Amino acid sequence: MAAEAGLLDRLAQRVDGYRLQLRLGEKGRVASVGDGIAWVYGLPSAAAEEILHFEDGSRGMVFELQSERLGIILLDPEANVASGSLVSHTGERLEIGVGDGLLGRVVDPLGKPLDGLPPYDADSFSALESASPPIVARDFVNRPLYTGIKVVDTLIPIGRGQRQLIIGDLGSGKTSLALDTVLAQAGQGMKCVYVMIGQKRSEAALAIDLLRRHGALAYTTVVVGEATATPGMKYLAPFAGCAIAEGWMRRGEDTLVVYDDLSTHARAYRELSLLMHRPPGREAYPGDIFYLHARLLERSTRLSAEHGGGSLTALPLVETEEGEIAAYIPTNLISITDGQIYLDRRLFAAGILPAVDVPLSVSRIGGKAQHPRIKEEAGRMKLDYLQFLELEVFTRFGTKLEAGAEAKIRRGRSLREILKQERLNPLPAAFQLAWMTAFNAGLLDGFEPAAVPGALQEIQDGLARAPLALDAPRDEWLARMKDWLAA
Ligand SMILES: Nc1ncnc2c1ncn2[C@@H]1O[C@H](COP(=O)(O)OP(=O)(O)OP(=O)(O)O)[C@@H](O)[C@H]1O
Ligand SMILES: [Mg+2]
Repeated sequence: MAAEAGLLDRLAQRVDGYRLQLRLGEKGRVASVGDGIAWVYGLPSAAAEEILHFEDGSRGMVFELQSERLGIILLDPEANVASGSLVSHTGERLEIGVGDGLLGRVVDPLGKPLDGLPPYDADSFSALESASPPIVARDFVNRPLYTGIKVVDTLIPIGRGQRQLIIGDLGSGKTSLALDTVLAQAGQGMKCVYVMIGQKRSEAALAIDLLRRHGALAYTTVVVGEATATPGMKYLAPFAGCAIAEGWMRRGEDTLVVYDDLSTHARAYRELSLLMHRPPGREAYPGDIFYLHARLLERSTRLSAEHGGGSLTALPLVETEEGEIAAYIPTNLISITDGQIYLDRRLFAAGILPAVDVPLSVSRIGGKAQHPRIKEEAGRMKLDYLQFLELEVFTRFGTKLEAGAEAKIRRGRSLREILKQERLNPLPAAFQLAWMTAFNAGLLDGFEPAAVPGALQEIQDGLARAPLALDAPRDEWLARMKDWLAA
């Protein structure tokens, strides 16, 4: 029996080896090339996402499998692939080198340097497309990620491992919010990946320069699929960014990935799909557009301690038109993510910056990661603020309000001033707790609107001189606030 089984095994191996050789011997031919893609005949055993080799040494990735031919994304757009050239299998999948060698670097979606420096040293390789971690390897989101932005850290808190959408019209401050969040990660033990999809080179250069000037490149990698890149490259960019962050997450580190932005990504995918003759669906997007973003964002998670305890927080950005959050791509993303920060152009125009629309913004899991003291103060304040926003609507009609309501409106307006924040000015968590405690206790009520920023500065300076732990009792915080504000 045993001998028979051994014989069968060996036979099976022979057959497999035979198939492999048959496959490796298989050659295809390029039928046509253009727009960063190629059509190839032959290679009947090609697999989806397999890397193919062209005669001139360049590579392509199988994107579309049809019965007669293959649609290939060209991975070296400068290469000289011509119709008639030979194509062969590699049996490989697309990977990117990952590791600390990427810190401070600007690369394309295949890891090629765009910063004029030599190639980076990779510790290991990560597949661009890979399955999200299984549920058993995951843990709850229970540690905060501080953005340094008052309105976010208090009212729409984000936890490490969360997926939080930043949504808003053109020019509503999405990129600024994301960049500020990256700047705020200095000294927080976080590694960041900033993925730029479809930006003009000048825009990308400005953002990279900003990160460099503020020392944030030291813990950040920038992946660029610029405006002039092929749709294939733009399509791959967020997957490359995710793979880079996964490399660190697997080592137990906390990572943050910004996808700026997924509207452009969806359009690149639509263009690619139309080039590949996939049937268009709603708004001409291919039918699997939801799956595209779901499988990308599903890879953000918090791993359990047995799996190293690393995390991947995702901040996807999406653009709306005329504030229409019910459009196709935005609603898809809202349903995939754990919450959204909604930026409103009308608030922006009114000078309320960052232009966060608090009632329309939500963080479904971040509250669990908030420090209990911050959460307590934020809960009180949020109620006040939402009541104020409702009351304020009435004042527009000139309705006479009772005295209590007037007081609420005055407090609400003061809070709105407090929540305004300049760019590039990340604020520590202790300060968030401090000003909220002062506000909730009514310590800021006596200040004229114009004097409030000065009062906040007093608190910030006070904290810098004499730091206080978040865990300190509320009375101690209050006593401090009273001292500093009386000065
Ligand atoms: N908190 C802020 N304080 C002052 N100015 C801000 C603030 N946030 C954003 N801005 C300014 O608003 C402008 C638009 O911001 P930003 O580029 O971040 O918007 P966006 O939504 O990413 O735009 P796009 O849709 O073009 O990508 C920029 O000039 C930026 O400096
Ligand atoms: Mg932007």
